[in-house]
Formats: sequence, structure tokens, C-alpha cells
Amino acid sequence: MRVAIGADHGGFPLKAELVAQIRDLGHQVQDMGARILDAADDYPDFAKAVAQAVAAGQAERGIIVCGSGVGATVAANKVSGVRAATCHDTYSAHQGVEHDDMNVLCLGARVVGEEVARELAKAFLNARFSGEERHLRRLNKVKAAEAGLAQPKPKAR
Ligand code: RB5
Repeated sequence: MRVAIGADHGGFPLKAELVAQIRDLGHQVQDMGARILDAADDYPDFAKAVAQAVAAGQAERGIIVCGSGVGATVAANKVSGVRAATCHDTYSAHQGVEHDDMNVLCLGARVVGEEVARELAKAFLNARFSGEERHLRRLNKVKAAEAGLAQPKPKAR
């Protein structure tokens, strides 16, 4: 799988660890920066680069690391086609893909340690969207909302 990864100064050291781990797992890594540790850099720049790589199909998945994971999530979700979430537990890291087709994982390097981050990345990358009817229906509602389309009327039960 092609995986785009990015981090600001808050996530810079953890990104290096994750790049090595993701390669060890057999994936192809596209490092979207930062290239150097710069305390004055801004997370939206790296979140945007990763999100655009995923939205354009240059990468199937993205991982963004900032201090908390929050800023990266907010910024990445501004790119159409991106479904990003901060996940600091392994259940959400795989279930977010299986049910919600999450395609970008955001991590907070000030919140989780290296080992937990590795497990989160692995759970995320090993997961696949289930494609089950109810998940597809919900995903289509999310896509319709993103496209600014009228929501389908709820089915009578
Ligand atoms: C940078 O200091 C920090 O604010 C940023 O990495 C991130 O935590 C934002 O959500």
C-alpha cells in the first residue's frame, strides 16, 4: 500500500519512527515533510500535503502526526475525499477504517508513546473497509454532505 506521512515539529521525531516501521510492514512511504525539525513550522502545511496525496489517489492512506493529533485532523478534513480522525486506541484505529472508511490516521506525539503509535499505525494499515450495506449507506450520506447534496430521506421502518 502507498502511505503518505507528514508531521509538524510536534510530531517530527515520531514520524521518523513510523516511516521505518511502515516500510518494515512492506508498505511504500511518501514522506510529505517536515524534512527538518523546525519549531516554527505549521501543522496545516503537512496535513494538507498528506490529505491531497490521499485525495488525488497518489496514496491509499495517510498518517499525520502533530502534538495532539487534533490540528492535523481538523486541517486534513478540509480536503474533499479525506476522512481523517485522531485515534489513540487500537479499536478506533481499525474500526474507523472498517466501518467509516477512514483514510487518514492522525496521531498526537505528545499523547501517545512510540510503541502505542506503532500499534495504532499497524491496526490502521491492516484494516479494510467492510463494504457492508449499512456502512456503505452511512458513508454515502457523509459523501453527500461533503458534496453539499440534499440528504436522502430516512427509510420508514
Ligand atoms: C504545535 O506546537 C502544536 O500546537 C501542534 O502540533 C498540534 O498539537 C496542533 O493540534
